[in-house]
Amino acid sequence: MPNDPMIAISQADLVNQYPHSPLKGQAALVTGANSGIGESIARYLAAAGAKVVVNYVVNPEAAEAVAADIRSAGGDAVAIAADVSNEAEVQAMFKQMFDKFGTIDIMVNNAGLQRDAPFHEMTLEQWNFVLAVNLTGQFLCSREAIREFLRRGVRPEISAAAGKVICISSVHEVIPWAGHANYASSKGGIFMLMKSLAQEYGPEKIRVNSIGPGAIKTPINTSAWESPDAEKKLLKLIPYGRVGITPDIGKTAVWLASDESDYVHGVTLFVDGGMTCYPGFATGG
Ligand code: BGC
Repeated sequence: MPNDPMIAISQADLVNQYPHSPLKGQAALVTGANSGIGESIARYLAAAGAKVVVNYVVNPEAAEAVAADIRSAGGDAVAIAADVSNEAEVQAMFKQMFDKFGTIDIMVNNAGLQRDAPFHEMTLEQWNFVLAVNLTGQFLCSREAIREFLRRGVRPEISAAAGKVICISSVHEVIPWAGHANYASSKGGIFMLMKSLAQEYGPEKIRVNSIGPGAIKTPINTSAWESPDAEKKLLKLIPYGRVGITPDIGKTAVWLASDESDYVHGVTLFVDGGMTCYPGFATGG
């Protein structure tokens, strides 16, 4: 059963979405895939033919349900626990993945969280926790994935690239966010991590990019869209006039993981209904 309360995706609804299976024969790891954006990415990658690891750190039932639903629709998926900020747990997760699927082709660094506070009241714990999960987690998972991409190299019958890293960033990698300095700093850090990895490993045919979601209806931001008043206020920040839903990101991830985007390297693709167009300036400035 789908576990995302925001938009219930059932794997059965996605089976005919990608008849040409652009990710056939590829293995993907999606961190934080038991809910929200991560769940959608895992489901869409699976619908596109990838074998998928549904990583989680809390709520194992939800992760198992996502994996089971993918399998019941004819896909291949397994739920694996690991705290992405813990080196030993990340390495153990990769070992489990390699035992099950043999290798990795697509690394999606999605796990992320918020611990908001006015900056002058922010505790070191709130700062460290957000940086550890959102940024260090992407370092640890990307490093393990890239080690395997380097070891294995390109298999032309599978993909033109030796591997793909997709970092889930945010519009807040460029839009400053008062009251969320830890979160915005982590996303700004992801921008330079992504760029540096793209520069360092492009010559090895490892493709590295980010997706920068705007306001997507997930458990992380319920208060921003749940009431009609909140949604009305939020829509003022979105020129395209609707709040995002998780499939907006899942579909983008499929394209970015596939050879359709083979020449796309070292960029953040904002999927935000135009939030990064600073709509406040439409009438001001
Ligand atoms: C945050 C959400 C927020 C959105 C737009 C995301 O990165 O996690 O809480 O609604 O950015 O501001």
